[in-house]
Amino acid sequence: MKTAGLAEASATASAWKRESLSVGLVPTMGWLHQGHLSLIRRARRENARVIVSIFVNPIQFGPNEDLDRYPRDLERDAALCREAGVDMLFHPTAEEMYPEGFQSSISVGALTQTLCGRSRPAHFTGVCTVVGKLFNLLRPERAYFGQKDAQQATVIRRMAADLNMNIGIVVCPTVREEDGLAVSSRNVHLGAAERQAALCLFRALSSAQEQVAAGVRDTAVLLGGMRAIIASEPAAAADYIEIVDPETLFPVDHIEKKVLAALAVFIGKTRLIDNVLLEQ
Ligand code: PAF
Repeated sequence: MKTAGLAEASATASAWKRESLSVGLVPTMGWLHQGHLSLIRRARRENARVIVSIFVNPIQFGPNEDLDRYPRDLERDAALCREAGVDMLFHPTAEEMYPEGFQSSISVGALTQTLCGRSRPAHFTGVCTVVGKLFNLLRPERAYFGQKDAQQATVIRRMAADLNMNIGIVVCPTVREEDGLAVSSRNVHLGAAERQAALCLFRALSSAQEQVAAGVRDTAVLLGGMRAIIASEPAAAADYIEIVDPETLFPVDHIEKKVLAALAVFIGKTRLIDNVLLEQ
């Protein structure tokens, strides 16, 4: 496996393209966990070459967010990638990605103004800009994202379709710890008591799933139940708890087809997100 900066990664990806080798890209911010590894395994199965990018993208973090304390360990990540059969680790510097004079961005509309976009107004423009740059630099056939970041996946799919990027966006299921906590790089910030408190996200989503299975269709009832579960956890503070259409991300009042129950909750200083699809 080679680790490459911007010029070398782009040249290598172009050479693979000339040889008609299909390329799968797994964009990450590092601190790789089982969720990333499941994306890498899927990319490995579906492509002749697999690239993992590791770049903690400064422009997707707001001024009071956790850019500085975002966990980093390139050596450990590289070992995991090597073991998983990754062909190239793309690890650009911020100067390579955003050289002096950089002033362009990709912004997607209404999809980015709801859910996480409400409390993180510049986040998705930062995500789309960096993912658009990765797509242009590496020209993959397919790119892999986790369902845990459901809004991100929906926004990126919209961007790729709207801008004719001609790249397959593959969304893979959320990976959970045995007790249900969705794996996330940010879980590393949770102390033992917070780790326990963080289970309220999965408890709230599971209760919504159980109620739908029992025949409840009114989302006000489901949301009331979810809010009560989060409120009963003293270490938790909800940012949002919503039930939306998975494609438009508009709120849904009555469940007639598949909907997305999504929430963002602060556990202490750490903001966690999770979601499930609710089906009748
Ligand atoms: O999901 C992430 O880790 C990031 O948002 C991504 C897609 C790598 C863009 O920086």
